[in-house]
Amino acid sequence: MTEYIKFIFEGKTFEFPVVIGTEGEKALDIGSLRNKTGIITLDPGYANTGSCTSDITFMDGEKGILRYRGIPIEQLAEYSSFRETAYLLIHGELPTENKLKRFSVMLNDHSPVHEDMQYFFRNFPRASHPMGILSSMVTALRSFYPELPDMEDEVDTTVTRLLSKIRTLAAMSYKISKGHKVVYPRPDLPYCANFLNMMFDSPVRPYEIHEDVVKALNIFWILHADHEQNCSTSAVRLVGSGKVSLYAAISAGIAALWGPLHGGANQAVIEMLEKLAAQGTDVKQLVARAKDKNDPFRLMGFGHRVYKTYDPRAKIMKATCDKLLTQFNINDPLLDLAKALEEVASTDDYFISHNLYPNVDFYSGIVLRTIGIPTNMFTVMFAIGRLPGWIAQWKESMDESQWKLGRPRQIYTGPVERDFVPIEKRS
Ligand code: ACO
Repeated sequence: MTEYIKFIFEGKTFEFPVVIGTEGEKALDIGSLRNKTGIITLDPGYANTGSCTSDITFMDGEKGILRYRGIPIEQLAEYSSFRETAYLLIHGELPTENKLKRFSVMLNDHSPVHEDMQYFFRNFPRASHPMGILSSMVTALRSFYPELPDMEDEVDTTVTRLLSKIRTLAAMSYKISKGHKVVYPRPDLPYCANFLNMMFDSPVRPYEIHEDVVKALNIFWILHADHEQNCSTSAVRLVGSGKVSLYAAISAGIAALWGPLHGGANQAVIEMLEKLAAQGTDVKQLVARAKDKNDPFRLMGFGHRVYKTYDPRAKIMKATCDKLLTQFNINDPLLDLAKALEEVASTDDYFISHNLYPNVDFYSGIVLRTIGIPTNMFTVMFAIGRLPGWIAQWKESMDESQWKLGRPRQIYTGPVERDFVPIEKRS
């Protein structure tokens, strides 16, 4: 039975239905609010606005729960691979053995990129940020791989192309930025190992693929694969709603992810820890700065719009980090600093009362450093991981039952109507 919320405005009562999700989440459906009452809602940053209903990801920020298509993130990190999780997100179900094999074959078939794309890379200024390059290259893919006439083929092929080529593009941009020879994808290697090989193999030092590193990368990408309606995913949905190509929508997502308050936080965390180590600053001093309202500094890797408890991804990332460093017998002073910072922040009244806990980015940089990924590529790694989520969300939003051009409203607060003043009369 549908429940209604009553709304009294200018002496009249209006009723709006309550929508209830499968996990009991409740929303007030205000789709008819403006037509019925003439008013709109005001919610800067969309903190209380549901932009869609979705079957993809469930998160409970109070309880620290994250599930893809119903499956807890902890189980996926332990038992699944990134490739299989990508399939789950995009197609809605775990693949059978045959379907997974077919998916792998398609990923392999699409892994090389057009040779001419190398010319683009070579012409970006050396200091370009890899996220800017990636965003441009993903849009450029449309020019190299034009639309197919059949929509279903087009979606399937474009999705596989993107998933496969994004890791080739990322590795290629790294090799070219170092002035090294590009390494081609190898059909005999699975998704993560193939990427590591393209990044680090060289004629003078062949790359040795280590299963523990491959597992850590699978976990890193699984943890980043989707996170419901965050900044970059909302960008993908909004830009996609104008019916641009999937490449353009994903490129918008990459641009949104780049910001230090979103995906760029993993790079910002490592830079913060490195600065802390280099300057020998006391962690207590840094926490004091983060609390000071006159100082714009924030503790990077802490806080989250939705999680008001420990981010479940951060728990898994911290454990992966510890395991990896122990396996390789590495003593990373940045990990000790991160732990000391967490210790001080987690017992501080300000951080407790503001519900500020480490988020996924706090320990992920140390995992990436251990794998050998350079700091300026961290957010690119996040983007590769988030791609299946963006694709799944785009697919869902383009479904005829959901599709609607995204177009929020506003409350105008500028000057009321006034006359144009000729330049000679302006004071
Ligand atoms: N350090 C210090 N204080 C913080 C921090 C932080 N990292 N994060 C939030 N706060 C404080 C704010 O100053 C504010 O305090 P006040 O209410 O006393 O004024 C309060 O907590 C709420 O902050 P908002 O910015 O309103 O919270 P919001 O939910 O919008 O912010 C955000 C979430 C942007 C992630 C924020 O916590 C932040 O800037 N964190 C650091 C950057 C970061 O790690 N980003 C990665 C997020 S995860 C991801 O996107 C993959």
